Amino acid sequence: MTRTILTGDRPTGPLHLGHYVGSLQQRVALQREYATYVLIADLQALTDHFDAPEQVRANVLEVMLDYLAVGLDPAVATMVVQSQVPELAELTMYLLNLVSVARLQRNPTVKDEMRQKGFEADVPAGFLVYPVSQAADIAAFKADLVPVGGDQVPMIEQAVELVRRFNRTYPGASGPVLVEPEALLGPVSRLPGTDGGAAKMSKSLGNVINLSDPADEVARKVRGMFTDPRHLRVEDPGTVEGNPVFAYLDAFDPDRAAVDALKARYRAGGLGDSVVKARLTEVLEALLAPIRRRRAEWARDLGGVGRLLDEGTTRGRAMAAATLAEVRRAMRLYGS
Ligand code: TRP
Repeated sequence: MTRTILTGDRPTGPLHLGHYVGSLQQRVALQREYATYVLIADLQALTDHFDAPEQVRANVLEVMLDYLAVGLDPAVATMVVQSQVPELAELTMYLLNLVSVARLQRNPTVKDEMRQKGFEADVPAGFLVYPVSQAADIAAFKADLVPVGGDQVPMIEQAVELVRRFNRTYPGASGPVLVEPEALLGPVSRLPGTDGGAAKMSKSLGNVINLSDPADEVARKVRGMFTDPRHLRVEDPGTVEGNPVFAYLDAFDPDRAAVDALKARYRAGGLGDSVVKARLTEVLEALLAPIRRRRAEWARDLGGVGRLLDEGTTRGRAMAAATLAEVRRAMRLYGS
C-alpha cells in the first residue's frame, strides 16, 4: 500500500533556507514515492498571529509559490489550505480531551516559543494547544511519515501519544482508526540563523535568507553573516565549529572535498572570511537561481496557482472527511 506523507508550514512570511533543508528538500525527493499532502497551516499561523489575519491570508499564495518554485509538483503532491478543511478543527476538539494541560506545558518547542514571544505570563489557549491541532492534521491524513525540521520532533512525539490514546480509548469496530506517524528529519536538522545566535531563524530577528530573495539581497546577507569573532586578521587561525558560514557550506555545498579544504585552510590561518563568504554566495546562487526562475514563471499566472491550490484543498478535504467519518463512528457519536 502506498504510504502517506503529511507536512506543512505556517504562512506567516516567505519560506527560507531553514525550511528548505529541514523539510522541503525531503518532500520534493519523496513526492513520487509517497502519497504527499502539504498543508498551508493558516489556522496554526493564527495561534501567534491572531491579530495579523491579513498577513496570514496574503502569505497563503506566497507559500504556494514557494512550494511550486522548489519543485513540489501539483500533479503528484496535494497542497491544501488548512482553514478550508473544518474537519481538522473538529478532530482537534476531540483530541483535546486526550491530553492534559500539564503535558501541553511540557512540550519543549512550545516552551521555547513561549519564552521567545513573551507569552509566559499570559499564553493564549490556542497557542498552548497548537501541537494538538498539528496532531489532528497528521492524524486526519493518516500520515505515516512527517518530514520536518528538528524543532518539530516534540510535535510528532505528541501526535504519536495522541494517536495511541485515541486508538485505545475508541477502538474501531474493525481495528484502530488512526495511524501512528514518524518524523523524517533532513540531513541538516537545524540550520543556524545568519546571526549565528541560539534562537531559531525568524523574520522578526532578520536572520534568514528567503528562497525568494533576489541575488543581490542574498549576497548582502551572506556578507553580513556572523563568523568567528576572534578571526580578526586573515593570518589568524579561525574556528569552523559554530561558525554559521561553514554550517551553511556543510548544508548546501555539494562539493564536500572543497568544503573540507576550505575548513583546513581556515583553521590553519591565512584564509579570509570574505573568501569563504564568496564561495557560499556562489553555492547559494546555484541553488536559488532556478528556484527564483520557476517562482517568477508561476507568478505570471496567479489565477492558475490559486486554482491548483483549490483543487488540492478539495482533494485534501475529501481525505480528512473520510477519516472523520471513521473517527465519529469509533467515538460512537450521535448520528454516526
Ligand atoms: N508547526 C509546523 C511549522 O511551524 C507547521 C505545521 C502545521 C505542520 N501542521 C503541520 C508540520 C503538520 C507538520 C505536520 O513549521
